[in-house]
Amino acid sequence: MASEKIIAVIGATGAQGGGLVRAIINDNAGGFAARALTRDVNSDAAKALAALGAEVAAVDIGSEASVKRAFAGAWGAFCVTFFWAHMSAERELAEATAMARAARAAGLKHVIWSSLEDTRKWVPLTDDRMPTLGGKYKVPHFDGKGEADRVFAQHGAPTTVLLTSFYWDNFIHFGMGPKKGPDGALAITFPMGDKKLPGIAAEDIGGCALGIFKKGTEFIGKTVGIAGDHATGAQMAAAFAKALGQTVRYNDVPPEVYRGFGFPGADDLGNMFQFKRDFNEDFCRARDLKFSRSLYPALQTFEQWLTKNKQRIPMG
Ligand SMILES: NC(=O)c1ccc[n+]([C@@H]2O[C@H](COP(=O)([O-])OP(=O)(O)OC[C@H]3O[C@@H](n4cnc5c(N)ncnc54)[C@H](OP(=O)(O)O)[C@@H]3O)[C@@H](O)[C@H]2O)c1
Repeated sequence: MASEKIIAVIGATGAQGGGLVRAIINDNAGGFAARALTRDVNSDAAKALAALGAEVAAVDIGSEASVKRAFAGAWGAFCVTFFWAHMSAERELAEATAMARAARAAGLKHVIWSSLEDTRKWVPLTDDRMPTLGGKYKVPHFDGKGEADRVFAQHGAPTTVLLTSFYWDNFIHFGMGPKKGPDGALAITFPMGDKKLPGIAAEDIGGCALGIFKKGTEFIGKTVGIAGDHATGAQMAAAFAKALGQTVRYNDVPPEVYRGFGFPGADDLGNMFQFKRDFNEDFCRARDLKFSRSLYPALQTFEQWLTKNKQRIPMG
């Protein structure tokens, strides 16, 4: 419909953006249309979005000119950066700056910036409870995004900063699923002690983002956080045990042990979990469950997500 407001969605073939494109398309009466942005409009993933009814257009977020073209004529935009594709917080900041400038140039009415906390506000670089990484970060994949929050404001883009949560999909795609311990029983491993880890089905982030767009101007200039559940490691292990019908333990390790696991980004994730553990009240409070459901009533709990996805989780 010509009167529909076009939302330009970065990362449309990925987890967050894909969820938003599908949420927009499924929301018949919502008044929004999705412009799915991808580097390759001919990929199978892009074609699948076109088949659902999305407009598909090209973008490379490394180029401000490209983002400007991609945002032109749109009403709003969903902006996300891809830390794990390059592991550079500086690059995320540069990409977010391009998005903010493009949003302003296109005269967008509402931008959602998918962000995370700048942990240095809680743990300054002089605080040696966790190592400083890359010379100026504590949790690089958080800090760069958090630093970019002000960039959107500085460029005058009407923005809602959206604090997302740990994807439960990490149990499927990020090697975090239950693994067999020395005793033969499955265990999930986190350095979270007995603290709660706010989590979410990655697909549901898009539903919440659409909920924000549908609230009109209410959250412009504000920061809002979302999660589908706040669960301790022990509670998640119990949910796994129930879903799988076998023992699943929670293996609580110190953050320094997690940092030493040796996979790319283990130090960043070790610091991240330590931040979530040590500032747990602040971190959970920023992601209120009732508020999240008010944006998206179909938001899944961990148990619901697990029931639906347990067959997809590699166990080892
Ligand atoms: N994993 C977690 O628990 C978690 C939790 C909260 C936040 N996050 C954050 O989420 C972010 C990633 O979002 P996601 O999970 O939605 O990503 P994703 O599923 O990995 O999707 C990335 C998509 O972005 C596109 N893309 C990659 N580089 C691009 C570029 N230069 N220009 C334009 N498009 C590009 C790719 O699509 P094409 O190939 O089609 O272009 C890809 O499908 C990360 O920054 C991460 O820190 C992750």
